[in-house]
Amino acid sequence: MTTLAIIGGTGLTQLSDLTIIKRERVDTPYGAPSAEFVTGELNGKSVIFLARHGNPHTIAPHNINYRANIWGLKHLGVTDIIAVAAVGGITEAMKPAHIAIPDQIIDYSYGRKHTFFDDNNYPLTHIDFTHPYNPRLRALLITAAANANIAITHNGTYGCTQGPRLETPAEIKRMKQDGCDLVGMTAMPEAALAKELGIEYAAISVIANWAAGVTDGEITMAEIEHNLHSGMANTAELLKAFIAL
Ligand code: HPA
Repeated sequence: MTTLAIIGGTGLTQLSDLTIIKRERVDTPYGAPSAEFVTGELNGKSVIFLARHGNPHTIAPHNINYRANIWGLKHLGVTDIIAVAAVGGITEAMKPAHIAIPDQIIDYSYGRKHTFFDDNNYPLTHIDFTHPYNPRLRALLITAAANANIAITHNGTYGCTQGPRLETPAEIKRMKQDGCDLVGMTAMPEAALAKELGIEYAAISVIANWAAGVTDGEITMAEIEHNLHSGMANTAELLKAFIAL
């Protein structure tokens, strides 16, 4: 038996097609999760939804209590997570409003509570992180996109920055040299914490803008909102196709 959770990021504070069954607060040893966990049905299947930045959307990426979020999902019996997050596009295929299913991560974030192995309270384990995104869930997302006729990029390296500011063009140039295709602020420590608790985790990256310096001019919130609007409409279809598999 699998229990699916969807973590929604910027542009996906709620799942509009979800028939809500219950909302619950979960107390965790790490403090409060970002929001209530919403259990509902999407296309007849049970799903737990969590708004990563809170509802309303107020919690900045570096202030998200990632440990409480992941611990709370584990506590509710979640086995699989699909994480949705807005990103900037660095390499050519990663055009605004497009979707990618990343397969690798480079972590540039700092100062976040990034592990459960922190208080000498678990037997220390160095988790394997060869596949930061679960290959089975990634393959299902790719199949779902084909079934729903949604064009996606099948892989990509996600560079996780600290935020909340966007990057400088020089930082993006360096990230590109490092091998990053996408830049976002929330994949870490979220992916690693899920792995530490044995939850399978994959992501849908929705490209909101070209990353700094990729094109001329500054990045505007209006542009981000415009691209997320169509990217998230496709994401909702992709999620429904995923659940139908
Ligand atoms: N950088 C980092 N995170 C982001 C961006 C970006 O350009 N766009 C959306 N999330």
